[in-house]
Amino acid sequence: MSSARASTLRPSTLRRLEKAARAAARTSYSPYSKFRVGAAVLTGSGKIYGGANVENASYGLCNCAERTAIFSAAAAGERNLKAVVVYTPTPAPTMPCGACRQVIHEFGSDATVIAICDSAQRVERTLPELLPDAFGPRDLLQASSQSPRRNRR
Ligand code: THU
Repeated sequence: MSSARASTLRPSTLRRLEKAARAAARTSYSPYSKFRVGAAVLTGSGKIYGGANVENASYGLCNCAERTAIFSAAAAGERNLKAVVVYTPTPAPTMPCGACRQVIHEFGSDATVIAICDSAQRVERTLPELLPDAFGPRDLLQASSQSPRRNRR
């Protein structure tokens, strides 16, 4: 875990993503956890979409910042995620939860995932490092290409 290792992203792109993730955290709706998370995603078209966590009195319905950002990109028609940056107001970086890793996989099976925080520490991983042997769209295609005979039951 370090800020010493150079990112695979261009420094200017990384700076834009970090700024967007920090700005998004300011819109967090987190009255229950008080954990204000911001995320920013870079799409194949070069655009950046931000998002914050949105909680609910029915706790199970809370949405993480990463998923808010990814869903806004997807709702704008984006289908290719290059990078995801998550910011937490903590001394050490916080990595995306399992559910968010799966949602990243849907649109960014090779995406770069970066966690930043209030110190200089930064963690950078690839999605396959965070979610090896992932289940995804290809697995369903494989099922639908089976012969009707084998699918009978
Ligand atoms: N949270 C995120 O937004 N992203 C993560 O990667 C981990 C957790 C949010 C969900 C919830 O609103 C709060 O943090 C506490 O779990």
